[in-house]
Amino acid sequence: MSNTSIQPGSVTFIKNVKAATMTDATLGLIDDAAIVAQHGVIRWIGKENALPMEFQHLVLAAEERQDVTMIDGRGMLATPALTDCHTHLVWAGSRANEFRQRLHGASYQEIAAKGGGILSTVKATREASEAALFDMSLPRAKALLSQGVAHIEIKSGYGLRLEDELKQLRVARRIGESLPLRVSTTLLAAHALPPEYADDSDGYIDYVVRDILPAAANEGLVDAVDVFCENIGFSREQTDRVFRAAQQLGLPVKLHAEQLSDQDGSALLASYQGLSADHLEYLSDKGIRAMADAGSVAVLLPGAFYFLRETKLPPIQALRDAKVPIAIATDANPGSSPLVHLPLMMHFACTLFQLTPEEAWLGVTKHAAAALGDHQQGTLAVDQRADIALWDLDSPEAICYQFGINPLRHLLIGGKQVSKDQLT
Ligand code: NIG
Ligand code: FE
Repeated sequence: MSNTSIQPGSVTFIKNVKAATMTDATLGLIDDAAIVAQHGVIRWIGKENALPMEFQHLVLAAEERQDVTMIDGRGMLATPALTDCHTHLVWAGSRANEFRQRLHGASYQEIAAKGGGILSTVKATREASEAALFDMSLPRAKALLSQGVAHIEIKSGYGLRLEDELKQLRVARRIGESLPLRVSTTLLAAHALPPEYADDSDGYIDYVVRDILPAAANEGLVDAVDVFCENIGFSREQTDRVFRAAQQLGLPVKLHAEQLSDQDGSALLASYQGLSADHLEYLSDKGIRAMADAGSVAVLLPGAFYFLRETKLPPIQALRDAKVPIAIATDANPGSSPLVHLPLMMHFACTLFQLTPEEAWLGVTKHAAAALGDHQQGTLAVDQRADIALWDLDSPEAICYQFGINPLRHLLIGGKQVSKDQLT
């Protein structure tokens, strides 16, 4: 047995776990599994009693150098760490008053038409300093981290003018620098019409593609571009203009699509090979076919469905039949989903959308990573990043079934163990 693969560098050895690798539709379960990680990536995973000699040597050599993290999982469930692939978690202010109005019968659309809704959060977010916005937003990201989330997407869209869109995105980047988790940023300048352009939505789109998008991209603040394509948002044609500008800058696109009505936005997204179309309650068969052909992910947001007390379900069975990958996310935002809890979304995905627990798991791991264009994460497999969660759960479905007790026991991100302090 050659020792060529024994290289210095800290090693993580996890043994005695039941691994749910997420490599197939039944979650790729391995009983009595072990995982070896080094240099931030998984180097070996399999049945513990089949650990090859070279990896036994690798672990022993690291032990001698005292450069090893050993974790005895005592039969716990090991999964990829979670990904929350759709959030708006950088915001200021509160919309509790609108919650009360909706309980008295006002609709989300009516509140938006009266200048509330997204625009009320825009006002508060513009007024907040960058430092204050960071302080308000950080606890939301910390909450997700404590639930086993290693990768969060954060959208702008509460600035709606250059300086405030940049402010939001900088805060998002700073969150990624301040916590051990990874942040992907999405520019959602085309989220609502700001007061300065109240009667000129085409003029605002001009401003987005001419000024906001290039400046934000230039600062390295944009990993993807999103639009709210809706009768209370932007038209399909306006969405197309933003997508074209994104494409010219080499940026992938995503879309808030068919949430409140069918705008045929998902087919447009698919024509750009977009990463994901999100919400999708009103998605048509045509949209499903286009997404299946393009390989775009369907991101379902059961928190918004629940909080807005929607009744129209996304076309789950048709998405399954067409083999469109389904992801699940929190949509954490102050208006339609003030619910910063990804395992709760897994629970809702099962109870409200009748996803299976297996679909819910794939939706917050493999498919959520794909919705961010991240193919180095989302499964437990060789060469994937060592983003690993250990749960005190008897079976994968237990996380969807019970709610209220945090079963996370260990979280590794890039092979490094997140400290207990950071998980509370
Ligand atoms: O994903 N639909 C548009 N955007 C958000 C809601 C934003 C808000 O109400 O503040 C969503 O539901
Ligand atoms: Fe959203």
